[in-house]
Parts: sequence; C-alpha cells; structure tokens
Amino acid sequence: MSDNGFFRAAGISIQFGGIKALENVSLDVKQGEVHAIIGPNGAGKTTLLNCISRQYKADSGQVFFQGKNILKLKPHQVVSRGIARTFQNIELFKNMTVMDNMLLGRHSQRATGIFSDILFYGKARQQESDFRLKVEEVIDFLDLQAYRNRIINDVPYGVQKNVELGRALVMEPRLLLLDEPSSGLNMEETQDLAFWIEDIRDDLGITIILVEHDMRLVMDSCDRVTALDYGGVLAVGEPKEVVKNPDVVKAYLGE
Ligand SMILES: Nc1ncnc2c1ncn2[C@@H]1O[C@H](COP(=O)(O)OP(=O)(O)O)[C@@H](O)[C@H]1O
Ligand SMILES: [Mg+2]
Repeated sequence: MSDNGFFRAAGISIQFGGIKALENVSLDVKQGEVHAIIGPNGAGKTTLLNCISRQYKADSGQVFFQGKNILKLKPHQVVSRGIARTFQNIELFKNMTVMDNMLLGRHSQRATGIFSDILFYGKARQQESDFRLKVEEVIDFLDLQAYRNRIINDVPYGVQKNVELGRALVMEPRLLLLDEPSSGLNMEETQDLAFWIEDIRDDLGITIILVEHDMRLVMDSCDRVTALDYGGVLAVGEPKEVVKNPDVVKAYLGE
C-alpha cells in the first residue's frame, strides 16, 4: 500500500506473444498528486493504463484502489469505483455532437435498471436531469460552450481532445488516467491543458496519472514521475530528479 493507501499497482506483468510488454511493474500514486508516467515509445505506458482500467487483463500482479483490489473488475466497474480515462487516439463518436458524446459517457455509470430507463420514470428521470446538469457543468469548466451542439468531426482536434477529457470528467472520477493528452496540441493548447490539469486537481480534487511525452508539461505540472523502459520501471521520484537519472537519459537518447 502507498502511504495513504490511495492507489497502488504492484508486480504487474503482461505478455503479447513472446513480447513482455510489462514485467513486474509497480506504481504508487498518492491522493491529490499529478503523477506522470514517462518513457520512450513502446516502453509499456499505454499497456499499464490498459491494465489499470481493465481494457487488458494483466497476467499477474495486483491493483489496489482505495483499499480494494480492482484487478478482477470489468472496465465499467472500474469506472464506477471512480477511475476514468482518456485514450491516446481519441475515442469519440465522430458523427455525434459534443454534448451527446459527453452524455453517453455519463450513462455508463447509471444506477437504475433497464426498465426504469425505458419508462424514464422516478429515479431514472431524476438521474437524467442530474446528468445534464453535470455535463453542463463540465462544458462550462472546459470552456466548451461554443461547441456543445457541433458534430465531433467538424470541431478542431484540440477541441476533440478536450471533449474526451470532459467525457471522463462527467464520470466524476476520484482518479483520472490521461494517455498523452498533449499529443497533437499546439503550444497554446498545451499551456491551456496545463491549467486544466491544475484546476482538475485543485478545484475538483481529482488525482491524476498522466502518460506524457512533453517534458515541459511533466516538469511544470507533475508532482512525481515513474519512468518506464522495455516494460520495467527505471526510476521513480520528483520530475527534476528523474530527468537527470542516467538510466532515464540513456533511454531517451535513442529517440
Ligand atoms: N494489444 C497488443 N498486442 C500486441 N502487442 C501489444 C499490444 N499492446 C501493446 N503491445 C506491445 O507492448 C509494448 C508496449 O506498448 P505500449 O504500452 O503501447 O507502449 P507506449 O505506450 O509506452 O508507447 C510494445 O512492444 C507494443 O507493441
Ligand atoms: Mg502509448
């Protein structure tokens, strides 16, 4: 367990064919921190997020979140425990509006049964209006008002990335997993992202695990870093220490 028992992945291993994508990887995240995962392409960063969110089934290891082992749960159960994520390649419904994409995200955590959904009655009706309020709140928070009724295909890439972030936020997570949120963003958009990361942590109280290539964003926005290479942990610590670590420097020289 980490010192406050918030999040700990321990001894995670997973193979694809003969390739050991992760071998005995551990990751400790304290409540309230922004924790970066860095490493060259193919290091296993996305695979680690996939094991946590249960898109992949780890061959071995454990993942504890708020005191409970979540490594046997289904992906939607991980979401209801309070872990939401975004993807390296945007996963949105391209022909639907910004608003509808965010409403869909929220539906994955409905507590009512299928019949009350169909009848749209009682608790379901109450939830529906709560959902919309939450989505509106997130749209305001991320400055997406101008795009709310636009089709995803018609909005700029940076806005699409933001909608994906919004879709994760409407799940009201305690822990947010972001896979390369700055990839494809210009400098101004990356600066905005840094502010949002700060606000998400400080105003919404959400802990963040951030897979990130942009070292400046890592230095500016992250409290601690875990560096991976070839499916193993190279270093863990504060950003300014980890970027000086000789093994980390060596791993990045090839890039
Ligand atoms: N579904 C998969 N099938 C086969 N190999 C995979 C799969 N997912 C990841 N890998 C392999 O695992 C290694 C780590 O990949 P990944 O986690 O995507 O790296 P990163 O996100 O650090 O760039 C790579 O060698 C990749 O090819
Ligand atoms: Mg990746």
